[in-house]
Amino acid sequence: MSSLSPLPAATGAATAAFLRPSLLPPKKSASQLSAYKSRKPYSPHFARISCKTSSSDKEPNNNDQTGPTTRRDILIGMGSLYGAASSLSDPTALANPLQPPDLSKCHPAIKGDAGDTADCCPPFSDQIEFKLPSPKEPMRIRPAAHLVDKAYIDKYEKAISLMKALPDDDPRSFKNQANVHCAYCNGAYDQVGITPSVALQIHFSWIFFPFHRYYLYFFERILGKLIDDPTFALPFWNWDSPDGMQIPAIFADPASPLYDAIRAPDHLPGGSSPLVDLDWSRSAASLTPEAQWQSNRDVMHTQMRVMHTQMVSGAKKRTLFFGTPLKAGDAAANTGQGSIERSPHMNIHIWTGDPKQAHTEDMGNFYSAGRDPIFYCHHANVDRMWDLWKTLGPRRTDFTDPDWLEAAFVFYDEDKNLVRCKVKDCLDSRKLNYDYQKVPLPWLDTKRTPKAKKKTLANAFATEKFANAAPPKKRELTPLSAFPLVLNKAISVVVPRGKRSRTVVEKEEEEEILVVEGIEFDRGNVVKFDVALNDEDDTGVPAGPQDTEFAGTFVNVPHREKQGAPSFKAVLRLGITDLLEDLGADDDDTVVVTLVPKVGEVKIGGLKIDYITD
Ligand code: C2O
Repeated sequence: MSSLSPLPAATGAATAAFLRPSLLPPKKSASQLSAYKSRKPYSPHFARISCKTSSSDKEPNNNDQTGPTTRRDILIGMGSLYGAASSLSDPTALANPLQPPDLSKCHPAIKGDAGDTADCCPPFSDQIEFKLPSPKEPMRIRPAAHLVDKAYIDKYEKAISLMKALPDDDPRSFKNQANVHCAYCNGAYDQVGITPSVALQIHFSWIFFPFHRYYLYFFERILGKLIDDPTFALPFWNWDSPDGMQIPAIFADPASPLYDAIRAPDHLPGGSSPLVDLDWSRSAASLTPEAQWQSNRDVMHTQMRVMHTQMVSGAKKRTLFFGTPLKAGDAAANTGQGSIERSPHMNIHIWTGDPKQAHTEDMGNFYSAGRDPIFYCHHANVDRMWDLWKTLGPRRTDFTDPDWLEAAFVFYDEDKNLVRCKVKDCLDSRKLNYDYQKVPLPWLDTKRTPKAKKKTLANAFATEKFANAAPPKKRELTPLSAFPLVLNKAISVVVPRGKRSRTVVEKEEEEEILVVEGIEFDRGNVVKFDVALNDEDDTGVPAGPQDTEFAGTFVNVPHREKQGAPSFKAVLRLGITDLLEDLGADDDDTVVVTLVPKVGEVKIGGLKIDYITD
């Protein structure tokens, strides 16, 4: 496999090259410069709206204004936001999209445990509106990370080195870029205009894909600008293909600026279990490299099935793929993440982070994930999935709901402008002047292996005279009335289905979903549990991703928006129409749901089957 090829040649020269003046970012025009100079440099105190003015605050600019006026300008610039926020109380308001944060009110982020904070507030300034890049700009083609050549690696390393060398008061610095993620994900911002305060959280909902698309878009353009190459494109970690199922070699060279020392050592190329497991859970015994490569075909087949479930069979409706709506004022944590966000996206975060660190840094916690250059490569592949999903069928389109289209974020661009971007402007990656290298999609047709049509446990339970007879299989059944319960062992529950034997058209119209609701856990910890349908207890081992019965997984990457326990509960929704067909269970009145705890403590509120159209 190409990803097993030797590491790229040592790149010390490129690493040191950032000191050469010729490689410094091109000089800004005078007007750009004065515009930027009038802003306050990064200062945690100022960021918390200190109105202190000192002589050192004075910067030469046209208005001869100082700190407080800069703050006033920001408020004026935010006027439209407050306007939007005030419409929250207006019951006739049509749309209520999520608003960008007020950077001046950024406060410390929470790493995981209460009281353990990180200061990741970025510099702030007045905003400009996002404009699409000129179509005359060259298209940036993002390559698969395991396929790049030496010239590309040199360029990429140089760009990251230059970014790392930028000073802390430059919003484009690697540190500040990493902090963007920390601030948006670990509670450094409250939603603007919402009382009592609700943390801004850009995971666990339909906001996930567009937020990360813009984040990478600007990150990539900053890198391109630093090396003066308008064609520069980030690589993507092709973890959806056997050839890409390792940490790409370019990130594993300790001499490279792409390296990060805070990763799970076992999972590095050459480590004891280097193969990405798309359904990884820390509790599973790690395969040795020999066993991994021996069972490679099986492992890969399982991996491709996981991908197929997340992209195809389990993602037939928009809310299943993107996640559920999040509007201004909604609290987000784990309310409704989409299929890819949940897995493999979350799994790979946790798999890459170092379990020996207090908060599974770097990749295994949102506050620190952006410190690992591999983050942006991982997310390029997540972003690629959005483009691919839309090619998989006629109903696979973006939302048209204004609450999604008008939702907005702010990012710093390659010219240090703070840019306000709306979801509606990022739907077509080609209009953002980037695209992905075409590589095979081995998961596309990796269907589940249908078992012989069998009388399912559910059917047996529902129709036979079980009162007099021994239960059909050893598995004990937990009644629905036992919920809420702490999931401390695998349990199986008979859940009634509202509809059965539906026609093809009905199935296209409405997707049958399994809803696991009222999920409670500590958001500062890794949590994972798996779900299987009609899993007969023939082996004593619950079904895993290698089995047809496997329906999906719930995963939490450690993060926290607020001190203390959140008052809301998470929900897991799994599309199961295809799976029930594969299991020959389409005519049954009930389905047996098995919940298998994998990592961490979790309480489950209940289970139900539902039908959704979108
Ligand atoms: Cu914002 Cu992969 O997380």
